[in-house]
Amino acid sequence: MARLTILGIESSCDDSAAAVVRREDGAARVLSSVVRGQAELHAAFGGVVPEIAARAHAEVLDHCVEAALEQAGIGIADLDGIAVTAGPGLIGGVLSGVMLAKGLSAATGLPLIGVNHLAGHALTPRLTDGLAFPYLMLLVSGGHCQFLVVEGDDAFRRLGGTIDDAPGEAFDKTARLLGLPQPGGPAVEAEARAGDPARIALPRPLFDRPGCDMSFSGLKTALLRARDAEMAAAGGLTRAARADLAAGFQAAVVEILREKTRRALDLYLELAPARPAFAVAGGVAANGPIRAALQELCAERGVAFSAPPLALCTDNAAMIAFAGLGRLAAGEADGLGLAARPRWPLDARAAPMIGSGRKGAKA
Ligand code: KG4
Ligand code: ZN
Repeated sequence: MARLTILGIESSCDDSAAAVVRREDGAARVLSSVVRGQAELHAAFGGVVPEIAARAHAEVLDHCVEAALEQAGIGIADLDGIAVTAGPGLIGGVLSGVMLAKGLSAATGLPLIGVNHLAGHALTPRLTDGLAFPYLMLLVSGGHCQFLVVEGDDAFRRLGGTIDDAPGEAFDKTARLLGLPQPGGPAVEAEARAGDPARIALPRPLFDRPGCDMSFSGLKTALLRARDAEMAAAGGLTRAARADLAAGFQAAVVEILREKTRRALDLYLELAPARPAFAVAGGVAANGPIRAALQELCAERGVAFSAPPLALCTDNAAMIAFAGLGRLAAGEADGLGLAARPRWPLDARAAPMIGSGRKGAKA
């Protein structure tokens, strides 16, 4: 089909989102992308509360769909298909989206396509920068942290990832420990500018272990101890100590990500890609020093660096619509029996990850 227009729906964590993406003559374009966050609903609880998230999704998702269609300037009859995040994520939220998508599909007869949320993130650099397969991807956010070689629309090889928390969670926890506002990432980054990254030594967990797995929970604990020691010594948290702790923490994350990315690049380059490329996505990719370190590393290795605009690399539904396009074009679809999956690893061959984070499943 020369022209395909698809609606995307996303509700796997704490953002309710809907978007319309159109592919015409081989090029895909985002016609609209609506995201309604829930930060204020969860603020008092120090993390995403799954029941509150699910109820909020159920309340606002249909409005998001309406707004996405309106902003795209189209009606439901102009759509060729409906793509929805079918996992991994907080199951109540995923179900809200899947139920809405099934209702729309049943009412209109439009094909329904279940999309893996991580595939949505991983394929976004093709939408924004036209990257050629295979490329290396680092997904780094409040809920994700993994290296993927993206070999095709449905072919992902997981090289490694966090064995516990995601870096965004660690930034958020650090902000709480230092009395800084949420979301923690931007607050810690700003505070770190005034600090000395070398005064307070923090660990680089798993640094000496081969491969590109990472760990961030030990870093949080070390930061808590270092903060307590600073407070005990000065009778409270001084302005300077707070900045030094933020700077020391950020320096540790930068160094961990730089070293593990270096190793992931080694593995990726063994594939001898014709147009080697690396993409970073997720909220943590907004961090200046992290981005600069990764960009520098890629320049050294002759690998093109890309970072999708923030609105498309944090959770959104345009990436879900885009990921659904390939299957829609191939005439594939899921029936109304589509299941919502709390866990759904992209690379079935890779060892499953343990634990489930504050922001949902990490698979
Ligand atoms: O991708 P995202 O918007 O949402 C999910 O994780 O689903 O990422 C949010 C995370 C938060 O933990 C936030 O603190 C972190 O990304 N973040 C940052 C920065 N901006 C956002 N972390 C470090 N530095 C930043 N500038
Ligand atoms: Zn995500």
